[in-house]
Amino acid sequence: MDDKSGLPPYQAHAEPPRWRRHKPRRARAFRFLALGCLCFIAFAQWKQLSQRRPVNAELTVHGLSVKRLQEDLAVCAKINRVPDDPIGAGRERNARYIDGHAPTLIKNATVWVGEPAPGTSDEDARKGVGYSWITADVYLAYGLIQRVESSIAVSSVASNALVFNAEGRPLTAGIIDMHSHAGGSPLPESWGNEDLNEMASDITPYVRSIDGIHPNDHQIQVIKSGGVTTSLILPGSANNMGGEAYVIKLAVGKPDGRNETSAVDLLADPDRNWRFMKMACGENPKRVYGKPGTQGPTSRLGESWEFRQAFEHATKYVQEQNDWCTAAAGGIEQVRTYLPQELRWESLGALLRHQVRLNTHCYTISDLEAFVDHTNEFKFKVRAFHHAHQTYLVPEILKRAYGDEPPASALFADNMWYKSEAYTASEYAGKILYDAGLETVYVSDNPVLNAQHVVFEAAKGYKYGLPYHAALAAVTTGPAARLGFGNRLGKIKSGFDADVVVWDSDPLSVGATPVQVWIDGTAQYENPVVLEKGPAQVIVPDASLSKIPGEPVSLDEVVFTGISRVLLAGREESLSANNTVVVSKGEIACIGACEAELRAATESKTPIIKLNNGYVTESLTAFGSTIGLNAIDAEKDTDNGNNGNAFTRAEDGLALDTNKTNTAYNYGVTKAISAPKLRGQDTHHGTSVGFLTGARTPLDQDAIFSPDAAVHYTLTPTIKSAGQPDISSISAAVGALRRKLLTAVSTRTESIPDTYSESFYLQRVVNGTLPLVLTVHSADVIAAVLKVKHAVEDALQQQRDTTTTALRLVIHGGAEAHLLAPQLAAAHVGVILAPLFSYAVTWDQRRALSGAPLTNGTAIDALLAAGVRTAVGLEEDWWVRDLGLLAGIAHKNGQGRIDEREALGLVGGNLLELLGVEKEELAPRHFVVWEGSPLEIGGRVKGVSGGRGWVDVWE
Ligand SMILES: *[C@@H]1O[C@H](CO)[C@@H](O)[C@H](O)[C@H]1NC(C)=O
Ligand SMILES: *[C@@H]1O[C@H](CO)[C@@H](O)[C@H](O)[C@H]1NC(C)=O
Ligand SMILES: *[C@@H]1O[C@H](CO)[C@@H](O)[C@H](O)[C@H]1NC(C)=O
Ligand SMILES: *[C@@H]1O[C@H](CO)[C@@H](O)[C@H](O)[C@H]1NC(C)=O
Repeated sequence: MDDKSGLPPYQAHAEPPRWRRHKPRRARAFRFLALGCLCFIAFAQWKQLSQRRPVNAELTVHGLSVKRLQEDLAVCAKINRVPDDPIGAGRERNARYIDGHAPTLIKNATVWVGEPAPGTSDEDARKGVGYSWITADVYLAYGLIQRVESSIAVSSVASNALVFNAEGRPLTAGIIDMHSHAGGSPLPESWGNEDLNEMASDITPYVRSIDGIHPNDHQIQVIKSGGVTTSLILPGSANNMGGEAYVIKLAVGKPDGRNETSAVDLLADPDRNWRFMKMACGENPKRVYGKPGTQGPTSRLGESWEFRQAFEHATKYVQEQNDWCTAAAGGIEQVRTYLPQELRWESLGALLRHQVRLNTHCYTISDLEAFVDHTNEFKFKVRAFHHAHQTYLVPEILKRAYGDEPPASALFADNMWYKSEAYTASEYAGKILYDAGLETVYVSDNPVLNAQHVVFEAAKGYKYGLPYHAALAAVTTGPAARLGFGNRLGKIKSGFDADVVVWDSDPLSVGATPVQVWIDGTAQYENPVVLEKGPAQVIVPDASLSKIPGEPVSLDEVVFTGISRVLLAGREESLSANNTVVVSKGEIACIGACEAELRAATESKTPIIKLNNGYVTESLTAFGSTIGLNAIDAEKDTDNGNNGNAFTRAEDGLALDTNKTNTAYNYGVTKAISAPKLRGQDTHHGTSVGFLTGARTPLDQDAIFSPDAAVHYTLTPTIKSAGQPDISSISAAVGALRRKLLTAVSTRTESIPDTYSESFYLQRVVNGTLPLVLTVHSADVIAAVLKVKHAVEDALQQQRDTTTTALRLVIHGGAEAHLLAPQLAAAHVGVILAPLFSYAVTWDQRRALSGAPLTNGTAIDALLAAGVRTAVGLEEDWWVRDLGLLAGIAHKNGQGRIDEREALGLVGGNLLELLGVEKEELAPRHFVVWEGSPLEIGGRVKGVSGGRGWVDVWE
């Protein structure tokens, strides 16, 4: 772990381990030869000096200390050494192996090796030929995978070996997340622990993420529970040059089988062969640093200047050092100074010397093109562009980047729209890049996404057309190679690090969960929670997913055949496994054999869509998002705005026909209920509107199905700084809410002239004709809210001639609602979980349940078990594509409690019921036809009827 030279690791590259054999590729050979000569001369000089006379600190040449010159020569001897990827096979033990840890034999696994069968050509391999799941036993010892064979006898391995029976389950290499801030931005977020960006200046290549890694960040444990064993911990993206990054393994301290709790102990390569760095382009640096007239960058123009100026410095620095080394190699009498060394430029110099693997955050064409220009101007490599939402539009720009390999695109599968540079994005980017011969890796940017589920990003990559083998590679072998760990990580092969995951189902299936995780051969769980699921079946890749759907056709009359499941409410009658659905004027005219109708359709040349494993379901509903209220979250001009103190109606700010509403519709989400924001995402204040996502304008027929669906308030910590007078604490906010409700009770029969005012809506709340939806996560605040409910209901009961004495209260958010599940059930309070799986981003969510293997179920399981009426909302709008999949996870991981119909209800019917929206009126004209199950990764929308009198069909 210590640099063997005794120099601090930031100065020059660590010595390679003794066993390493250089096998330079031919292209590099000449450079090595030249560098080698220089190094040899420097070395010879240094050796001669050290032999000639005993080191004497007093000794000087031209007034310079000979000892120091000698040290400088030692730096020269290795200053230009370009690392090779550290070896895998050929090691006797993993340098991270802790003595005394027993070997492990994993029996009867279904193994994804991570490479095609021997003899497969590169061209075939790229297409996925030769990849398969194989039945094998896997033997781990000394922190390495030792053997992968169809059958390994217990008698043939060490007698102290632990035996793990995988019972046929899928086994893969540990997942690698190439973009994480775990440890540096610990959860729940707090100012005191946040060490993500050094904001002293825009250009800080000299800072190091390792100095801000908090090993006890609980999120590291949560992430590992999703099968992630290795993460690249990057500095944040506020700065154009953010600093050095580190690759860590997620085993922390003694409980995880390590000797000590330290950031250094986490390093994936204790010998530190490669170094890593983060840079960022685009909106962040200009927003954070730009001060007009005082300090740049205020624009992308300025950012390029900041980059180029820093690279110019570093280039000079490298040149000065090389000149010094060349001169000193001819004898130390030749130099009149010490070797120029400056920490500020050292790491950037190392990048120019190809010792640092660079990852750059760049979204847009302009950012990508400018940065590629810099790589060629200053001759350095960029290994991946992160958040590279527009790379799919410009493969040729990536191919122009300096070096022999175009940068990979490190992407989210479908998280977008949050700012301008994230607006022009495509869920099909992975597939489009693959077709262009480029590589995609999927990353979490934890805590932006919960890295526990980064494998779900890869699963969605597959859903959106990336071939199955490439999707798995995107979180295993792909990032391994980009990190320089291609010989050690990402494969189940002898000689690789023993980072292994046994899954309860195919890792690219919905709800896939590890049953055990090994890091460097050490099992990470003593008593993991294992979910009850059917036998694990691996996915048979569906080639039809590789077709990107085109624009839909709107049809009045259409017939779908091959429908195997009908999941419409009130359609519980048993149907065959091969039904026909006849649609007329946007309504279902027949389900079942429909022989006569089918004959008539054939005669009248009505389009007939033949499906394979078709599903018909009710359409889905998006609740609590800003869909219909903005287009780009961070762009004020596209947004309805924050309410602050004003209490407004969402209907008054409705803005339709945006990418968000259109995408919602295309994914079968035909209804949305959105409320005005209080301040920032996932806060609400005012009345929500129920509207059709397919409507072009608010005046379209039936565009609004509920002008005022509910009254919303927010009771999360945001309330303290939302600009409401007299509300700077939770207690003030709860008190204010109680006061408003009690006032409404005491004035409930008075006539209120303004029938669009807050007091009018509150009168409706206490009269029981409108639900009250409170956005709140903390169990403590939910407890306070339940007391408010009782106080209001007591007051109602004391009123004469009241018919309604119960407040229709719904909790929205609810990360900690599971702690009060029985009380919520008893009080008839419903819960809309948003997100479905909280990962304790904020303090008020800190007791969220992360699920197996760490906890027995999540909030949804606890709430449903207690009989709480539950549904699922969106805490960020991009989730709208994934509502069916989220329902699928609840179904798959619910251990039999939640059937398919109930799961879909969570993102559909339950929401309408909780709010008291008349669904009977909506139902017949809102349905979705899918190919494959909407709850499974391979399910796709084929037809949507969204209450407009026709069906949109994708062929
Ligand atoms: C871990 O600790 C044990 C016992 O103190 C020691 O023998 C071993 O060398 C240590 N291993 C590493 C990798 O530090
Ligand atoms: C492997 O596990 C599967 C699933 O439990 C089982 O059917 C099969 O018999 C097992 N094979 C061996 C060799 O034990
Ligand atoms: C959303 O925007 C993307 C990128 O601009 C575009 O490709 C896509 O077609 C749009 N989708 C819809 C449904 O409007
Ligand atoms: C399913 O039904 C359709 C329409 O009746 C028919 O054409 C098709 O052959 C049937 N398929 C199977 C597998 O039975």
